[in-house]
Order: sequence, then C-alpha cells, then structure tokens
Amino acid sequence: MSTWAGKWALVTGASAGIGKALAAELAAGGANLILTARRTDRLQDLARTLSATHQIRAEIFAADLAQPGAPEQIFDFTRRQALQIDLLINNAGFGAYGPFASVDQRRLLDMVQVNCTAVIHLTHLFLPAMIQRRDGYILIVASTASFQAVPYISTYAATKGFDLLFAEGLAEEVKPYGVRVCALCPGSTESEFRDVANQSRAPAANRQQETADKVARVGLRALAAGKSYVISGTRNYLGAQVQRLVPRRLVTSIAAKLDKLPYEAIGTDLTTALATLAQTLKSAEKMVNRLDTEITPGLKTTLDGLHGTLATADGMLKNTNATLVGTDAPAQQELRNALQEITRAARSLRLLTDFLERHPESLLRGKSKEKP
Ligand SMILES: NC(=O)c1ccc[n+]([C@@H]2O[C@H](COP(=O)([O-])OP(=O)(O)OC[C@H]3O[C@@H](n4cnc5c(N)ncnc54)[C@H](OP(=O)(O)O)[C@@H]3O)[C@@H](O)[C@H]2O)c1
Repeated sequence: MSTWAGKWALVTGASAGIGKALAAELAAGGANLILTARRTDRLQDLARTLSATHQIRAEIFAADLAQPGAPEQIFDFTRRQALQIDLLINNAGFGAYGPFASVDQRRLLDMVQVNCTAVIHLTHLFLPAMIQRRDGYILIVASTASFQAVPYISTYAATKGFDLLFAEGLAEEVKPYGVRVCALCPGSTESEFRDVANQSRAPAANRQQETADKVARVGLRALAAGKSYVISGTRNYLGAQVQRLVPRRLVTSIAAKLDKLPYEAIGTDLTTALATLAQTLKSAEKMVNRLDTEITPGLKTTLDGLHGTLATADGMLKNTNATLVGTDAPAQQELRNALQEITRAARSLRLLTDFLERHPESLLRGKSKEKP
C-alpha cells in the first residue's frame, strides 16, 4: 500500500506546475487533498478530476499567500472541516527576473512573503499536531538556486536558500518526534514559472527541463524515505556538487556571465558554464599568440587573473573522479570533457605567460615592429 493512502495532504500552489503534479501523484497514492492557490477555477477543475479518477476526497481553499493572514485562514479552514493534516506541502512560490534595482519593490517583498514567511507560518501552525501524534510529513519546495547566489534573480535565489536551510534544520530537530521534513530542489522544470518570473525570453528558458511529474515523484519518494533534501535530476545533482569545489565568487561570476541572466542555470548547467569559460580562455590564448604585435598595459593583470582561474580548473579536474562516483556515465564524460578543455587551455596559456614574463623584450620588439 502507498505511504500516502488515506492521509490528508495540504498542497499550496496546487493550481499549476509542480504543485499540481504533487497533488496528482498524492491522489494516485490514495491521499485526500486540500488544494490551495489563488485561481479558484483551476483548483475546482483539479479537485473534480482527481477525486473522480482516484476515489479520494479533494477540498479547495482559495488564498493569496502574499497576504500575511492567509496561512491562518487556511489553518482555520482545516479546523472547521475537522481535517487532520498529515502532509504539508509548501510548494507555492514565484521569481522575478531582472536587475534588482529595476524589479518592482512590491513584487520582491511579496516574493519573500510567499516563498519564506508563509512557509514558516504554515509550518508553525501545522507542525505541533504532527509532533503530538508522533507522525507527519512536510515537503518544502526549494530549488537548485538554493545552492548559490544567482545574479539577476538574487532575491529569488536567496528565498530558496532560506527554504533549504530551514528544511534541513527542522528535519533534524523534529526527527525524534517521528516527523519527516524534506526540501525538494528541482532544477529547470516545465511549469508556468518562467512566464510568471518574466523569464521566458531569457537564455535559461531554452535549457533542458524536467517534467513537473518527474520532479513531484522524486520529492515524494525522498520525503517518504526520510531524506532531509533531494535534488531532482543527475545533471542538477552534479551541478550543485561540483560547484562546491570552486570559490564562491567564481561560481557567482560564472552565473552572471552565463548568457547574462540565467537563474537556475548554474545549478543545472555547470558543464555549460565551464565550456563557456573554456571558450573565453581560448580567445585569450589567441590574443596572447598575437602579442608580438599587440600589447596593452593591462595585459599583465589579465594574465595574472587567468592564472588564478586556471589553477581552480586544475583543482576541479583533480577532484572530479571522486565527486562523480555513482552518477551516470554520459554525465561523467560530459563533465570530464569540459574540465579537460579548460585544463588544456590553462596549460598552453601558462606556458605562454611564463615565456612572456621571462622574455619581455619579445613584446617590445613586436611593438616596435608594429609602430616603426
Ligand atoms: N519551474 C522551475 O523551473 C522551478 C525550479 C525550482 C524550483 N521551483 C519552485 O517550485 C515551486 C512551484 O513553482 P512552479 O514551477 O510549479 O511554478 P508555477 O507553475 O508558476 O506554479 C506556481 C504555483 O504557486 C502559486 N502561487 C504563486 N503565487 C501565489 C500567491 N501569492 N498565493 C498563493 N499561491 C501562489 C500559483 O497559484 P496561483 O497563481 O493560482 O495563486 C501556482 O499554483 C515554486 O516554489 C518554485 O520556486 C520551480
């Protein structure tokens, strides 16, 4: 029998995307549902479909989680209906893409309210009864954006970092009481998220996405298994792990450079980021090759900076084998290729810069040739 059969689950953000998929997966496992979001028509449709298909009960309650009183209203609704909530799914959330100073202030504050404050508030309302019963499940939808800063969607990444840390801390705290808490960290996923975040035309929108159904299955499996967090998808897992080997500032700057505004991308696509870096280094190499005719005063500084980057790439390559044990072979190969490309570029650049440092006269000769 499914872990969820006969239990009552409250799902926030059930009108679309991952929340809708979580509701469907729970219903298929025999759970009864309370579905909440702002769009009542969608909630009604979903409740009707799921209860008819899976012979479960499904109630709806419309609420705007940007309003500070909404969690209390949802909690009161469950009390009035005398429903015991066994599973709380904190899924509702949104992002807003663009340079921080130009994003509407109200939207940013609402985002913190929905993505963080409402999560704390709902959890604080429903957890005590779970502790008392020595039984309960809480899923908090975080993101691969939880693992690093992401320029141009910085507030969103910060809210998701908050969600992950909150879930992990609480998981440990309430384990002795038989309550399981898990942060589900999806990478780029098919949903309405990008349209809402005004990100549809950003380069990140073209990246490979997982389906919401798959993400929902991964999250519920991890929750049932007692994991404190789960990253959906091997590539996403790799992205989150590999960047731990790289200085934080470099990760953030790659995130910013990666086609300028990529939000979840650094988690999803570190390999792409590394390949981009390798391209940059190749161009630098070409530039150094032409040095006998083109020399600029900032060159030495640039080359010193490259030395630092390249040392990092070398370190990453050394650590790769250990990090990738247990992940699938094509992903391993892809990452190794990207790192090897960077390291190759690194070595040739280092040889060239060493030579130039020892023989600066070669640069001067070139320059005098250029300007007789
Ligand atoms: N899609 C991705 O690539 C991705 C990746 C990582 C993490 N996530 C996270 O996954 C979660 C679900 O997002 P999604 O991708 O499924 O996006 P989505 O398709 O846009 O769905 C978002 C859900 O949140 C609800 N919601 C938004 N603002 C709300 C508010 N003020 N009050 C109540 N409900 C509100 C929406 O319902 P109404 O509009 O009807 O209120 C909708 O049901 C979010 O926490 C998101 O941060 C998404």
